[in-house]
Order: sequence, then C-alpha cells, then structure tokens
Amino acid sequence: MSIDVAEVRRRFPALARTLRGLPVAYLDGPGGSQMVDSCIEGMAAYLRRGTANLGGAFVTAEETEQVVAEAREVAAALLGAQSSEVAFGQSTTALAFSVAAALGATWREGDNVVVTELDHRANVDPWIWAARRAGAQVRWIPVDPEGLVLDLDGLDRLIDERTRLVAVGRASNAVGTINDLGPVALAARSAGSLMAVDAVHAAPHIPLDMDDLGADVIFCSAYKFFGPHLGIVAIRQELFERMEVAKVEPSPSSPPDKLEMGTQNHEGLAGLPGSIGFIASLGTGVTLRERVTSGMAEIRAWEDGLASRLRKELAAVPGLRPYWAGNGVEKTPTVTFRLEGYSPREVATHLARHGLFVEDGNFYASTLDERLGTRDSGGWVRAGLAPYTTPEEVAACHECVARLAAEGNRTTDRPRG
Ligand SMILES: Cc1ncc(COP(=O)(O)O)c(C=O)c1O
Repeated sequence: MSIDVAEVRRRFPALARTLRGLPVAYLDGPGGSQMVDSCIEGMAAYLRRGTANLGGAFVTAEETEQVVAEAREVAAALLGAQSSEVAFGQSTTALAFSVAAALGATWREGDNVVVTELDHRANVDPWIWAARRAGAQVRWIPVDPEGLVLDLDGLDRLIDERTRLVAVGRASNAVGTINDLGPVALAARSAGSLMAVDAVHAAPHIPLDMDDLGADVIFCSAYKFFGPHLGIVAIRQELFERMEVAKVEPSPSSPPDKLEMGTQNHEGLAGLPGSIGFIASLGTGVTLRERVTSGMAEIRAWEDGLASRLRKELAAVPGLRPYWAGNGVEKTPTVTFRLEGYSPREVATHLARHGLFVEDGNFYASTLDERLGTRDSGGWVRAGLAPYTTPEEVAACHECVARLAAEGNRTTDRPRG
C-alpha cells in the first residue's frame, strides 16, 4: 500500500469536520465522495476571474471556452476516449435519458434492448423508456442472488440480431461486484448491438478504458471521484456523429456539444481538471492518461487492503449478513451488509451518532433489492471506502457495528415476560 494517506487527507478540507468533538469518517463515497482541494480551487478561481457564456469576443468568454476544452481533455484521459467523444450534463441519469432518446429513435417494433438486474436504475430506466416508445422488447440479464454476480449463462439467448443495445454496469454501486464485461461485449458485438457501460460506481476505484471494455457509450459522474456535481458521457465518434439528438436550432449540431443542452456547469467543469489531476498526482508516467491509470492502481491497492480487512472483520460479527461476492470475484471497496435485529436505517443512525457516515437503502439498485428480498425491510447498509479512508476509520466502523450487534444479542437473549 503506497498511498500516503496523511498526505491525501490534507487535500480534502471536509475531512477536518468534527461532530460533537468527534472526527467524522466519510464512508458514503459511493453516494458521493468529498471534494479535493484542487477541484474546489479550480471552481473558485474560475468564478473569481469572471464567468461568461461561450462564444463571446471577450476574454472571460475565451477563458470559458478553454475551461470546457480542458475538461473534455481530462475526462477523455480518465475514460480512454477522445476529447471529441466527451459530453457533459447535469448527471449521468440526465445524460442517459438524452442518449436513450437519441438512440431509441432508431429502434423499431421487434427490436430489443438488454438491461441487468444488478444495475443502478439510471442504466435501466432510460433504456426501458426508449424501448417502450419504440415498441421494442426489454430483456434482463439476471443476477445470481447467492453469488451477487451477473448470471451470464443465457447471454446467447438474450442477445440476438434484433438487440439494439446492451446496458450494463462496470461495477455494482449496491454490492461492489465488478462485472465481467468481456463476454457481454463479445455477445453484443457479434450480434451487431451497441453496448452502454455505466461506470459511475467504478470510476473512483478502477482504471477505465472505453475501447478495452468494448463500450460504445460510457457514463460516469465527477462527484463520485472527488469532483464537481456533473455527469460525463463518452460516445464512440462514429456513433456520436450519426446520433440525432434533441436540440434547439442555434446550438451546435456536431459532437460533442450537440448533446449538451443549454449552458453547462462552467464552474464545475473548471474544477474537473483538479479532481482528475488528484488521481494523476498519485501515479507516474508521461501522459495524463498514464498518470491517471497508475494513480488509480495506487488507489485500488490502498482501498482493497482496507476493504478486505473490513469484510473479514464484519463477517465475524454475530448476526451480520454480508452482501458481497465471494473471494474469486473482483470488487470495489464497497462493503454492504445487514444486521439482524436492526433495520439498515437503525444501523446507519447508530453509526452516524459515532461520526461514521454510512448509507442505507437500495441506492437505486432497486431490482437487486427486490431479487434479494430486502425491498420491504430497508435494503442494506453500505460502507464505501476511498483513498482518504484510514485503517482507524475501518476499525471504528467494525467496532461500532460489533458493539451494536452485541447489544442486540443482549436484548434478544433477555428472558421475555
Ligand atoms: C452505478 C451508478 N449509476 C448511476 C448513478 C446515477 O448518477 P447521477 O447521480 O450522476 O445521475 C449512480 C449514482 O449513485 C450510480 O452509483
């Protein structure tokens, strides 16, 4: 583990926060990470220098053009895409609906789209919505509820020559499973289908390469990787060129701007180089892409060590039901569980009192929630680790859960009546 966590933590002002004198541990990264100083400063500097809209003949407008261009460059370096393939929007969800509307306009009755039971619904409902409008069928790649992995056995039946798009997540934001996308990409390509990859949960934890993944469309959201609240999509150039998007007449008609509706979040875009630059600062290499990729490997090594420890310790807590895939399956450092005798909200509330911020619910992975039978009982508790997470925070999380479990057992053991 080569990350200097003290050094990393100095870069995140929000980590100085305390709660009734207690330090706060942000274990809610899968919901949104804390923001790195270089991103905050990038945003503030842009606003202080003077904001403008695009296209003006004056310096602040030119600077804003530069901000957008640089944001495209750094996002492309993160995704292994070309900057001309990168578009921004309010969120991944909003972008997915825009892309689905554009692609869905070419679908016909008798076509089909394939989604998964494991995904966040942001990578499900836009495609279902577009399929319904086109009269196309929706097919589901099932999840194996025991193994918490996609069940790819029936892929050849699900994906056929009428499949227009396969939408699949790079990693599950609910249980952390990193999906094996090789067979999915192969089946999609052989059938002549497009593949859309939701990399929102994966982006803060593992290197991404659009081409290696076989993705025609890939989404991520910068607020999950230490950056601003904005969504990013990269669309394969040739596909992007021919996509007919909803737009107003005077706005650009060529990619990537054509997908960007109205004025963008310029200050957010000004912060993006700071957030991706932070990842790059942990790596080595000549190009930004090399530094981002190697920086991500450092993040992964750090997070993996802590996540393995947390999983091992939590698994030994009496009454704790783990929701993570087995040892042979790659996972993000997202550790999901339930505790017998307590609702997930009760566990999260208890931890919050001790300054440990974990989330509870289904995190919009509502199909998985249904398949696992947890939908009517509050979903799960989710602890997400980040490069700024310390071994002490992981220990505190385990101890707090273990104490709560012990109290629960005492209550249950007490003779009734
Ligand atoms: C895997 C995954 N996909 C999509 C989204 C939606 O992203 P956004 O909030 O940018 O729409 C999230 C947000 O939590 C997510 O975790």
